[in-house]
Amino acid sequence: MLNTYSTKENKRYYGEHLTPVDIFHRFIYPEIKDKLYNYIWIDLYAGKGNLILPILEKIPVNERINFFQKHIRLFDIQDEMVKHMINKVVKEYNIPLHIAKKFIQKRDNLKNFPLNLLKENLPLFHITNPPYLYIGYIKKHQTENKYKKYLDYFTNGREKLQDLYQIALFNDLKANIKNMVYIIPTNFIYGKSGSNEIRKVFFPYYSIKKAYLIEDKIFESTGINVGIFFFQKKKQISYNAIEFPATKIYKNRSITKIITLKKDYNYIAGNEFEEYVRNHKKNNLNISFYLMKDEVLNNKGNNKVILLNANKYNKSKGEYEKEIYYVNDHLYKKIKSNILWIRTVDTGSCNGRAGLYSITDLGVDGIITEKPYRTHPIQIFFDPELSIEKQIKLKEEFNSCLEYLRELTDSEFMTTYKYSNSEYTRKYLGLSQVKKLISTLEL
Ligand SMILES: C[S@@+](CC[C@H](N)C(=O)[O-])C[C@H]1O[C@@H](n2cnc3c(N)ncnc32)[C@H](O)[C@@H]1O
Repeated sequence: MLNTYSTKENKRYYGEHLTPVDIFHRFIYPEIKDKLYNYIWIDLYAGKGNLILPILEKIPVNERINFFQKHIRLFDIQDEMVKHMINKVVKEYNIPLHIAKKFIQKRDNLKNFPLNLLKENLPLFHITNPPYLYIGYIKKHQTENKYKKYLDYFTNGREKLQDLYQIALFNDLKANIKNMVYIIPTNFIYGKSGSNEIRKVFFPYYSIKKAYLIEDKIFESTGINVGIFFFQKKKQISYNAIEFPATKIYKNRSITKIITLKKDYNYIAGNEFEEYVRNHKKNNLNISFYLMKDEVLNNKGNNKVILLNANKYNKSKGEYEKEIYYVNDHLYKKIKSNILWIRTVDTGSCNGRAGLYSITDLGVDGIITEKPYRTHPIQIFFDPELSIEKQIKLKEEFNSCLEYLRELTDSEFMTTYKYSNSEYTRKYLGLSQVKKLISTLEL
């Protein structure tokens, strides 16, 4: 029979990204080593058991069977994973097969929490890296029955959640689990519409004791950035700010800083940006983005302009194609009097950081867009018109203000742009953030 369990599609479907055991030893074990006998250690989405089974290595050989029965419960939805774990504990830790089968089971735990566990006589400690799958992807693929099934998870009070990992967190909250370690996308604290709802329901009940934000690639098959979050249930519901030390790990360098999540800012990390903008508003300039091809074609005339085509990147030359157009006086004036473009994504090198740049330096008059992509070079238009001198000054001030805020927040208000092997973590600056930042500049 064909074994599908490591195909790419299967990995996506089951959100199967197994955590390297080393992550357990480096980051999780030091936090739990003094309380191994105080809890039942569970992983409801256990894969090959990499986050829990290494605990057994720390238990003296003659105590392992006892410890396993009393302190370990593992589940997965895939037969292959369950078999793998059973096999492993039997072979590597000498656990009798019938005992292994009793405590390592196949179950759909996203559907509902295995309530039987709550009847045991020790508290549960959930260490997991649950499946991740964004609702947008599920909806897009709902014509395939297997994905359609996933929509059922987003019912029963879970309608507004946006990802499978959030269903897992929500289920733990409802089951009143007091201690959890979750390895989940850092989008959990940095995301906007993709994670506002889960933060809103979760943080009145849980605090974060600490977190590791891993900016290196840790899974074989995905470059998604993840964090290891140590959650603890609060004694009572509260809307106070959540404050925790977060250690960022990037290429074996680490820095620790305090992150504060405030209810007024939807518990989003990096709210210093929003606070700064709110407190420093200085102008009411209207800003629009993109010179669309339609506009150029609808304003034909006799004035020659050379435009960089943002949709035509020539890989072999390593540059965008330049095209010649003839436009009327009105559009000519508009193009020539707006000389700035925004780079929304860091290139990864020091002189290619997100920010405002001069179009003249590209050797063209403007930037034409056939199909808008937020990560392409984008021309900016000001209304009312700004003199060239003022635009140059605005560019300098914008870039230094952006760098100041990046330094202050370690670029947290920006979105991490995939894992990449560059000098620093590449970030994306949203166009609404560009507008907000410009509104703080003196003209
Ligand atoms: C991201 S992997 C992580 C596995 C393991 N926790 C680790 O860190 O190595 C998620 C696992 O959840 C399992 N899974 C997916 N949906 C599930 C469900 N509804 N119930 C239980 N397990 C599920 C997948 O088969 C996969 O092995």
